[in-house]
Amino acid sequence: MKICALFGGPHKKGNTATLLEEVLDGAREAGHETLRIDLAGMDIRPCKGCMACKKPKAAGCVQKDAMPEVLDTVRAADVLIFATPMYWWNLAGPLKNTVDRFFALPFNVAAEESAFAGKKAMLVMTSGQPSDRDGREGLEMIFKKMCTFTGMQWMGTVTAGTNDIPLSQQPEALRTARDAGAGL
Ligand SMILES: Cc1cc2nc3c(=O)[nH]c(=O)nc-3n(C[C@H](O)[C@H](O)[C@H](O)COP(=O)(O)O)c2cc1C
Repeated sequence: MKICALFGGPHKKGNTATLLEEVLDGAREAGHETLRIDLAGMDIRPCKGCMACKKPKAAGCVQKDAMPEVLDTVRAADVLIFATPMYWWNLAGPLKNTVDRFFALPFNVAAEESAFAGKKAMLVMTSGQPSDRDGREGLEMIFKKMCTFTGMQWMGTVTAGTNDIPLSQQPEALRTARDAGAGL
């Protein structure tokens, strides 16, 4: 399967990237093809909400930035991994902007025309607070609802809290992440 990881954090080697790489290593070991897109710093502008992409015969989004290429990769993927540090109980901005721009793809249509139906989706998230106190259910709810709405299969959340113990000293969390990747 083709796995596309949309990474929204600012730190290319931070906690979230470390957890994500474990997932991707596990997936590669299981024979999957992986691609990680580091969204922070890319020219991905916020959705304007202009609805031009929904007009009859619209040719996608009117904004000419890096997003059309990202959307092509999203369309071609069998699995989408959404990877983000928790920022104020929410997605980091670059990932939020990217998900908003999914609006330019067909999503509320018959499965055979949908850009999302049949894909698998997973959330990889780190937070400061331990995962039983981090409010992860809010972020999970967003992705579960997105999956229900678009016809994607929810594959669950891989998560770790990082304030008390550095992620590098959490072998259990890293092993769980690798296993989750292998199980995609
Ligand atoms: C702007 C900002 C907002 C944050 N909001 C939260 C939060 O709401 N809950 C939480 O548990 N941790 C929060 N954190 C902590 C980060 O989620 C945590 O340190 C994370 O592991 C950082 O990942 P990174 O190393 O990939 O950047 C926040 C950090 C920043 C910088």
